[in-house]
Order: sequence, then structure tokens, then C-alpha cells
Amino acid sequence: MNTERKPILDVLQRRKPEKVPFWLMRQAGRYLPEYLELRAQAGSFLNLVYDPEKASEVTVQPLRRFGMDAAILFSDILIVPQALGQTLTFEAGEGPRLDPVRSEKDLAALKLDRVTKNCALVYETVSRTRQKLKQEGFSTAALIGFCGSPWTVACYMVQGSGSKDFAIVKRWAKEDPAAFQNLIDLLVDASILYLDGQIRAGAEVIQLFESWAGLVEGEDFDRWVVEPTHRIRQKLQDLHPAIPVIGFPRGAMAQTAIYAQRTGIDCVGLCPSVDPSWAAVQIQPHLPVQGNLEPEILLQGGSALDTALENLHRSLANGGWIFNLGHGVIKETPIAHIERLAQTVQGWKL
Ligand code: CP3
Repeated sequence: MNTERKPILDVLQRRKPEKVPFWLMRQAGRYLPEYLELRAQAGSFLNLVYDPEKASEVTVQPLRRFGMDAAILFSDILIVPQALGQTLTFEAGEGPRLDPVRSEKDLAALKLDRVTKNCALVYETVSRTRQKLKQEGFSTAALIGFCGSPWTVACYMVQGSGSKDFAIVKRWAKEDPAAFQNLIDLLVDASILYLDGQIRAGAEVIQLFESWAGLVEGEDFDRWVVEPTHRIRQKLQDLHPAIPVIGFPRGAMAQTAIYAQRTGIDCVGLCPSVDPSWAAVQIQPHLPVQGNLEPEILLQGGSALDTALENLHRSLANGGWIFNLGHGVIKETPIAHIERLAQTVQGWKL
């Protein structure tokens, strides 16, 4: 019998944990020399993602240094469009490039039935990572699988790259919502397949990244953010009732409460612009929260970091809480600052 409890699962399943569990978005990445070494050996980011041995290694690396309570699968949200048949490349220093999908004809070229086969190596990474975590004695750390939420993935698919405002996708959604709905529906189905594969391979928690939630409001927020997320959540509930889902609606501000109430997720990730004392009153009585240290403060370190950690602890430790950043680790962040963060968080008593 496995008597060892995983604190992150305690929080997500509404039991009292023994400590404040923590992990960091983008915890596997370019601030770590051991990541850069494997990344160089692989030759490119995508080669690294599709190499299960190296990708599982990169997934476990931060836990060896800092002892996080969760590992997050090393992959990317844009693996789903690629698995559907869209061309994807990552130019060094420039971010992702995709052949944009802007018409029903472009949409017709994407095929759902390729997803499972094209993601087989990612599932292999998940199962190898579970083995490594066990072998290396990380018995209280959970493995998080993830995907991008449909609206956010559609932003990149339609724009063909990153953007500040994703004007093209916003225009498509406004001018021809019925056609755009077909893209969202395809992404709902592809996300369910992809997450089902990760869970079967050993993912114990799922995080849905809605990085561009802040671009839509009101009815558009409901239709393009809340409703597709709710459909994914419902289907996973049917398939894998024991697996909790964290939703991260970055930039959603006050709409974070709507997202938390209406999507059916088990925990809401807060971005840095959400005031933790607001979240303690508005969200925590209903759902545990995750977050939300400003990544720039971790970069800065020193007394600014100590004060920010103390403030977060004071605001959120009385309710369900997974400590995290409010967005990903910045690549220039000194390792010593993350060590200090880990030491502080691990020292907190509940
Ligand atoms: O450690 C982890 O968090 C797990 C792995 C992970 C990556 N990307 C690895 C990655 C996760 C969970 C993601 C999510 C992701 N990817 C998001 C949602 C979170 C967010 O940041 O809002 C988004 C929008 C993407 C798309 C993406 N991938 C962009 C825009 C870029 C380029 C920008 C950048 O940071 O370089 C990527 C590349 C990427 N994804 C890297 C990593 C480690 C850098 C690749 C490299 O090694 O050069």
C-alpha cells in the first residue's frame, strides 16, 4: 500500500496538506545549465520534446536541485496543432512559427485522427518520467500533464506566431464566429485525446494554460474561454474522475472568478495581476488557488523576494493553496534565488 501522501493532491482533493506544496511554471528551462546542455545535444527545442529519454530527464532536473512537489511534463502547448498537421518551427530567439490557419479550407487540412499517433513520444516521456520520479525517491511529487486551452492555442494557430494583441484571431472570431467555432471544437476534441493519452501514460494532475484569457471579455469570454474549458473538464471527469485539473486564465483579472465558478476546474492559477487578498475572499472559499509570485521579483531576489513571499503566505496560507509563480521563470533568474525561494517555502508551517 502506498502510504506516502502527495501534498499537491491533498490540496487539489480538498484535504489538509502537511505543507504548502510548490512548483514553478517553466521550472524546466533555460535558467538551468543542465537543461542547456541537453538542449544543445538535442539540437533544437522540438528535438528535445520528441526525445523521451532527454525530455524526461529535463522534466526531473529541477526537482533534483530544488525539491518541488510536482514535475511538469516537458513539452509545449503547440504540440497539438503540430499533431493535427500544422507546420511548426521554433526559430532561435524568435519564438514559434506556424503556417497560419485562416479559412475553412486551412481547417479542413487538419486531422484529428493523427493526434494519438503523433503524440506517442510525448506519452512515452510521461511514463519514463513517472519511472524516474519513483526510482529517484521523489515519492511525494506528482507529475503534471498539460495542454493549452483552445482559445490560446487558436491564437497561435491563426496568427502564425506570438503577438501582443492577436488581432487576426480576434477579428475572425468577431466576423465569422460559426467558422471560428469549428476550430475551437476541433481543439476541444484534440485536447481531450491528448490529455487522455497523458493520463493513461501516468500524468496525475492536468494544467490547462489559457495564456491569452485576457484578450476577451463578456460573452466572448464565455464562448471562447469558459465553454470550451468546461467541455474538456467534463469529458475528463467522465474518463478519469480521480484526476484534478488546474486552470490558468492569465490576464483574466476579475473574470478569474467567473472562470473558477463556471468551468468546473478544481483549482485556479492566478497571474501576478490578481491581488492575493482578493483571491482569498472571492476564490478560496470555493476553490483552491495556485500562484502567484511575480517572476520579476524572483529575478530580483534579496529582500524584495523575502517580503513578497511573506505577503503571499499571509494572504493565502489559510485556504487551499499551491505556491507557484504567476507566470514562467524568466531565463536570466539566478539559481541562488530559486534556492532561497525553495528554502523559504519548504520552511513554512501550516
Ligand atoms: O517547465 C515547464 O513549464 C514545462 C514545459 C513548457 C514549455 N512551454 C516549454 C518551453 C510549458 C508548460 C509550456 C507552455 C507554453 N508554451 C505556453 C503557456 C504558458 C505561457 O508561457 O503563457 C505558451 C504560450 C507556449 C508557446 C511557446 N513555447 C512560446 C511562445 C515559446 C517561445 C518563447 C520562449 O519562452 O522561448 C515557446 C518555447 C518554449 N516552450 C521553451 C520552453 C522551455 C523555450 C525553448 C528553448 O529551449 O529555446
